Amino acid sequence: MEPKRPQAAKKLFIKTYGCQMNVYDSDRMADALAPHGYAPTTEIGEADLVVLNTCHIREKASEKVFSELGRLKELRDERRAGGEDLMIGVAGCVAQAEGEEIVRRSPVVDLVFGPQSYHRLPELIARAGQGPVIDTEFPEEDKFEHLPAPAREVTIKRGLTAFLTVQEGCDKFCSFCVVPYTRGTEVSRPVEQVLAEARGLVEAGVMEFTLLGQNVNAYHGLDSKGRSVGLGELCFRLAEIPGLERLRYTTSHPLDMTDELIEAHRDLEKLMPYLHLPVQSGSDRILGAMNRHHTRATYVNVIERILNARPDLALSGDFIVGFPGETEADFEETLSIAAEVGYASAFTFKYSSRPGTPGAAMDDQVPEEVKVERLARLNDQIMGQTRAFAQSCEGRVLPVLIEKRGRNPGQVGGRSPYLQAVHLEGPDRLIGTIQPVEIVKAGNNSLLGKIVTVTEPKSATYIESQALPA
Ligand code: 5AD
Ligand code: SF4
Repeated sequence: MEPKRPQAAKKLFIKTYGCQMNVYDSDRMADALAPHGYAPTTEIGEADLVVLNTCHIREKASEKVFSELGRLKELRDERRAGGEDLMIGVAGCVAQAEGEEIVRRSPVVDLVFGPQSYHRLPELIARAGQGPVIDTEFPEEDKFEHLPAPAREVTIKRGLTAFLTVQEGCDKFCSFCVVPYTRGTEVSRPVEQVLAEARGLVEAGVMEFTLLGQNVNAYHGLDSKGRSVGLGELCFRLAEIPGLERLRYTTSHPLDMTDELIEAHRDLEKLMPYLHLPVQSGSDRILGAMNRHHTRATYVNVIERILNARPDLALSGDFIVGFPGETEADFEETLSIAAEVGYASAFTFKYSSRPGTPGAAMDDQVPEEVKVERLARLNDQIMGQTRAFAQSCEGRVLPVLIEKRGRNPGQVGGRSPYLQAVHLEGPDRLIGTIQPVEIVKAGNNSLLGKIVTVTEPKSATYIESQALPA
């Protein structure tokens, strides 16, 4: 297809669904297309290429894609009536899982490509002029070797915190989950590749990383000597990068909390004391049916070991209510483990039957109204726990990474180690620094703080040397 506009003026709109790995992937797709003249836009109406980066984890997430495609068809019809065109791509896990089926259901789609094909995007676009292109192979080559790094200005614009995918896929096969099918078997990026990407981001001003993986604590990348390195050691290596101030990782499986990773929590100030460690259910019977490979007691024991190593650590989790066969008594065990562990926050989901997973074929599916009722009860409890945790921060002095201007003039905003939004009075020059902040008041969604003693920026301020994030 002949481009209607000059090369450099092509506009790319990516809509991202689902998890943080998709957020990272969307940025990498934009990086792959930048050298080919595509500039990102936040206005779908001016895009030449729209990519939906999709999520397949629950039915609702999947179905959203098809309603969006309906709207995009209208947009393209309008464009064509005006003599212009619009290319439409579907990426991510729905693309991987459904492949050709997407084009059959939605002929408006020009491109369907899975998470392992993002480096081939320029070539796929070039081919798409001759009819729909589908690429959901798991290629031999390492896509990360072929994905260009973002330009420095692009990284600066993306802000002081960044995601960094270090691992993809999952070998655990929880019986409710599509991930092992859509994202395939576990693959870890080599240590040097991760360190190089991290150094590039830090050089452009990034201060905090969240290491990502579908099962990130199963990371086992090879180092330059061909030795397998776990996530704990990777954290130690990353923490040595000057200028990198904070590290986080998500999402993890309890069985992969190795001694070395727990030591990293004990020894590394830079590793934030906030851990997302899903348990899914508090009932041993349901954990067995979910094929989680752990019991309630082994999970609680892992938590105890982590808290021994890092007593100020707070936890977040994931829960599924209404898994096939879940009784009221099983559900009450979920309420009780949530209270026992004392999660500071949690993501809660109604079980969604996914085609091809063992859970979908199980008898005893729980009626929708029971799931709705259990979800409401669990959410009530979790909301109370989150509020109590926020209130327990009142009077504490927490190191806050100041990221941006606040809502009102003279205010700045940042994040606590526990990912809580914190607002405080302070000058712009503090953006890009970590300040000790006393928490004065816990609000519903954020904390109000005041700086204890200002630690002045060592060199040029973030604003002077780079750019102020929006
Ligand atoms: N139904 C509901 N929730 C699910 N999750 C994964 N698969 C399903 C499903 N079929 C939840 C789990 C997981 C999180 C990412 O999504 O809690 O940890
Ligand atoms: Fe899915 Fe996580 Fe279980 Fe892997 S460990 S199958 S990604 S829920």
